[in-house]
Amino acid sequence: METFNNKTAFITGGASGIGLGIAKAFLNSGANVAIGDINKEQLSIAEKELKTISGNVISLTIDTTDLSTLESASKTISDSFGNLHYLCNNAGIPGGAKILETPEERWRLVHEVNFMGPLNGINLFLPQMLEHGESSHIVNTSSFSGIHGHGNQSAYGSSKFALVGMSEFLRNDLKDSNVSVSVLCPHVVDTPIIGGLKKRVSENVLKMIKDMEVSPITVGEQVLNAIRTKEFYIFCDGVHTRQMLEARCESLLEAMDRQFPRRD
Ligand SMILES: NC(=O)c1ccc[n+]([C@@H]2O[C@H](COP(=O)([O-])OP(=O)(O)OC[C@H]3O[C@@H](n4cnc5c(N)ncnc54)[C@H](O)[C@@H]3O)[C@@H](O)[C@H]2O)c1
Repeated sequence: METFNNKTAFITGGASGIGLGIAKAFLNSGANVAIGDINKEQLSIAEKELKTISGNVISLTIDTTDLSTLESASKTISDSFGNLHYLCNNAGIPGGAKILETPEERWRLVHEVNFMGPLNGINLFLPQMLEHGESSHIVNTSSFSGIHGHGNQSAYGSSKFALVGMSEFLRNDLKDSNVSVSVLCPHVVDTPIIGGLKKRVSENVLKMIKDMEVSPITVGEQVLNAIRTKEFYIFCDGVHTRQMLEARCESLLEAMDRQFPRRD
């Protein structure tokens, strides 16, 4: 069973929301934590909050779309804590609208941050993890929008589908290595993004959101649990998302049955 004591985690987008929840869960388990974020102000607020749990925390200004900032983060992490064991590619941005209503720049930016950002993290940190040979894990934060295409989330949803796909191929690549992989697929987590949404919606939708949402610290604990048990898909609730997953699987199988009827 994986123990986190004295091991080291790097969490991108770690200054807020889910990333901060993951950082807290790692610190509570005795790990060293580096949070990286593009938002300097939020980083220093988050670092202060995390230091109330443990002193083994550093914060780094990064932009996951800019490899040079990840390279300098890598050096600081190694100088501060030694080998890196847990990489959480969590930074992401929204971008939901119908396809024809989504400007090209938004498509490019959302895919750059939500897909190329995690790929940059993998390209930079995975070779180090393979080289040091100690038990390690990569967690890519996708979304339930990367599992089931609901609503009109064009750029965002497609970037998250791509990240689920990339994670599946990464799992194949890393079979029999010291590095395992998970893809985190939350549906509704009570973070600043959802906080903003709650202010804009009707009473009924607000009730639905409150019914579905889970807290960032719960998600953090779910992530650590998945690392312990080497669970690949990390789901954060099993009620609303179960119905969506069943609907997707059924529609795929129904299409196959129509085209290639079962013989049994
Ligand atoms: N909140 C939800 O309900 C929910 C649901 C599904 C998936 N997610 C995903 O979870 C992840 C975290 O989302 P959150 O809700 O905690 O949002 P959040 O806005 O609270 O946190 C995201 C953090 O990422 C940082 N960031 C953005 N672009 C960056 C970049 N290029 N480089 C470094 N840092 C960057 C932001 O500054 C912010 O601190 C995202 O990938 C998001 O798509 C969230």
